[in-house]
Amino acid sequence: MVINLSDKHSLVSNWVSELRSINVQSDRLRFRKNLERVAEVIAYEISKTLPYVEEEIETPLGTHNSKVLKEQPVIATILRAGLAMHQGLLNFFDKADNSFISAYRKHHKDGTFEIALEYVTSPDINGRILIVSDPMLATGASLAKTLNVLETIGKPAEIHVVCAIAATEGIEYLLRETNNKVHVWCGDIDDELTAKGYIVPGLGDAGDLAYGEKKQS
Ligand code: URA
Repeated sequence: MVINLSDKHSLVSNWVSELRSINVQSDRLRFRKNLERVAEVIAYEISKTLPYVEEEIETPLGTHNSKVLKEQPVIATILRAGLAMHQGLLNFFDKADNSFISAYRKHHKDGTFEIALEYVTSPDINGRILIVSDPMLATGASLAKTLNVLETIGKPAEIHVVCAIAATEGIEYLLRETNNKVHVWCGDIDDELTAKGYIVPGLGDAGDLAYGEKKQS
């Protein structure tokens, strides 16, 4: 299942337009906030698909049979670019457990790159709902590698991938690599990728825009 929130009118496409705009994206606070609120809306949309149970809640005046989340999800993100979206998911799934993965593009002199994965911290994810955020689903390689590593820790019951902008090619790659097991939720979808794996028109480097330029290794 692939859900593009820009298919329908909502504030999400407004916020994604600000993420893209060279006139707005240089305001780092706004950039991070827009990533956070896109993730908040996606968290709410995902919450509509999750299982609920009835729980008798005591109020000062009586009792109420309320529908509450049956289980807490595990929220995972890829450092560092995913941090703002992770916070957005956590604002809504405020009792979730959390996983952090460091995956980055290690660039070679010939212009190619490989995904280097160096740090993973995670609770048991076996049988649980896993929600992974990564603002830019470009080639899909880092997400596929991240999911492979997380699956060595346990087999999630459901996997939701949350991004601000996804490339068609990356979505197709990820669905192929996971046998269509993931649900992809994104703020918008673009059709083009550069030779260096950047999304066009995209927004540029999400990690740099959110946290500042890095020294390239
Ligand atoms: N990561 C980014 O930050 N931007 C892209 O376009 C692709 C990957």
